[in-house]
Order: sequence, then C-alpha cells, then structure tokens
Amino acid sequence: MLRRNRRLRSNEAIRSMVRETVISPNDFIVPLFVVEGKNVKEEIASMPNYYRMSLDLLEKEVKELWKLGLKSVLLFVKVPENLKDNAGTEALNADGLMQRAVKTVKNAVPEMLVMTDVALDPYSAYGHDGIVANGKILNDDTTAVLSEMALSHARAGADFVAPSDMMDGRIFEMRSLLEDEGFDDTGIMSYSAKYASAFYGPFRDALDSAPVDAENIPKDKKTYQMDPANREEAVKETLMDIEEGADIVMVKPGLCYLDIVRDIRNAVNLPVAVYQVSGEYAMIKAAAEKGWLDHDAVMLEQLTAIRRAGASLIASYFAKDAAKLIS
Ligand code: PBG
Repeated sequence: MLRRNRRLRSNEAIRSMVRETVISPNDFIVPLFVVEGKNVKEEIASMPNYYRMSLDLLEKEVKELWKLGLKSVLLFVKVPENLKDNAGTEALNADGLMQRAVKTVKNAVPEMLVMTDVALDPYSAYGHDGIVANGKILNDDTTAVLSEMALSHARAGADFVAPSDMMDGRIFEMRSLLEDEGFDDTGIMSYSAKYASAFYGPFRDALDSAPVDAENIPKDKKTYQMDPANREEAVKETLMDIEEGADIVMVKPGLCYLDIVRDIRNAVNLPVAVYQVSGEYAMIKAAAEKGWLDHDAVMLEQLTAIRRAGASLIASYFAKDAAKLIS
C-alpha cells in the first residue's frame, strides 16, 4: 500500500495539525433575552439553562461573556402584553426595553458588538413579524416601521441591526434611512434565508411571540419565511439582500440547512452567519438530560459542522458552553 490515510489520524497532535475546521470564541454571536424588572432571571421552560434576564443581570452577563472571549451579542426583548399592538408602536420608543438594553451592554462593555433583532413579532399583538390587515401581512407598511426601528436601535448605539422578518425590500429601505440619518457605520446583518421552520417553537415560548389563534390572523409565517423545500430561492434571497446593502447574510436554522449554507458560501463573498435556533438547542438538551447523547460532544460536533459547511459566524445558545470548552 502506498497510501495509508490513517497515518494522519494516528494521534491528537497530527490530527490537530491537519484539522480543516476550527471553532473559536470569535465565531460566536450570543443571543440574549431581556425582560423588564430588577434581578429577574427566568429559565425558559423549553430551553433548559437559558434565561430571560433584567437589565441589571444583563450587565453582569455581558461582562462574563467578554471574559470568555465572546465579542458579540444579539438582543431580543420580551415585551409586556399591554404594550403590544398591530403597528409596532413600542418598537420605536427611544426609551423602550431594547433601546435601554443596547445602552446597558455598551456601558458595561464598550467593546462588545451589539446586534439587535429587528422584527415586529415581540411587539405584535398578533405575534407576526409584520402589520396584519384583512388576513394578510402588509409588506411595505411593515418595512417602513422596521426601518424606523433599525434607526432607533442605531441611535441607542447598536453596532449591527439584524432584520429577522423576511419582508421584501427591507434591507434597501433600512440602509437608505441609516445613511440619510448619518448612521453609515451601523451594519446590517440580514436574516436573508430564513425558513418557515418548526424549530423556532422554544424561542416563541421565550418571548411569548407565537402567532395568535384568531379569525383573520394567519396561523403561520409561511407567506414571508421560506419554504423548507427550497434551495435555489435561498441564493436569490441572499443575493438580493447583498445588492440592497447587507453586510452579513444569514441562514436560519442551522443543522437541517447546511446544504444551503454551502450554496451561499460558494455564491457570495461576504460573511455568512448561521443561526443555530432554539429547537436545535432544545433537542440536544433534552436528549442529554435523558442520558441518550453526550451533550458536549454533540454540541461541538454540530458547531464544527456548521463552520465546515461554510459559516463564518454562528448565533448559538451554546456559545457560552462552547467557549468554556474550547478556549
Ligand atoms: C422572529 C424571530 C424568530 C427567531 C428569531 N427571530 C422566530 C420566528 O421567526 O418566529 C427564532 C430564533 C430561534 O428559534 O432561536 N423575528
């Protein structure tokens, strides 16, 4: 035999030297759920060991993340029911929870990159990412609000805004408004290929943001999020977001969509992020709790696979666990 492939696998030293994919704390974006109150830390039922926290605890959390080498957070807020409506009014409140959360992180750790979720669902009385009228989600009225929302986050100090809504034309509108208002340094991380996935269930529990079951309210998000059966369309969506001004594009969810990640990696020349979503987190936690899977090994294998598929960045609820293991 002239070729023995196992030689390059024979011990950890040589394996580590020929390893093609390495994950590092630099790769992670840490999603964080914020609530009103003081000293509030509520575990999310379907996301074991993941919490909603009040601003005072957010401050502590981001200091800890920074020490672990994690350099970026993605903020989500749980909006009190009485502040929800169909127009996203509270989303534009300069002193709203998101805007205060951005300032809290920036005060605690000025170097931390702050990314904000831009979508109406946490603010929507109907649990939709857009304004609802006559059983439909209005596209252009929604993008107008989303742009104002992005501007409001930029004013609060966000480094990147992250539109997760999948309305058409929102990146162009947002970029234009940010430029007009002098926020040319504020980046856009676009959820460009976001699928209508059943893996978002635990997230909707976390924020109480699931579409409500009522007459004339669409029961799902299939008129804006993508059909899981589609592949070519993901490239189309992503290229359009880049033309419209996105700085980072994203595929969401992760594991079931790694073919899409590779297609997009090959088609574009800017950073590709992957969102390993709440349902993916919940599956590993549940199986590990039952003793059916090795939590840390499965976690690192999935994160490595996401990077290997072509992701430069991973938004993951495992970021902290992983950073502790790999740094
Ligand atoms: C909504 C939004 C969702 C997630 C991030 N932003 C849920 C949805 O589209 O219904 C899901 C993230 C996760 O499941 O971890 N704009």
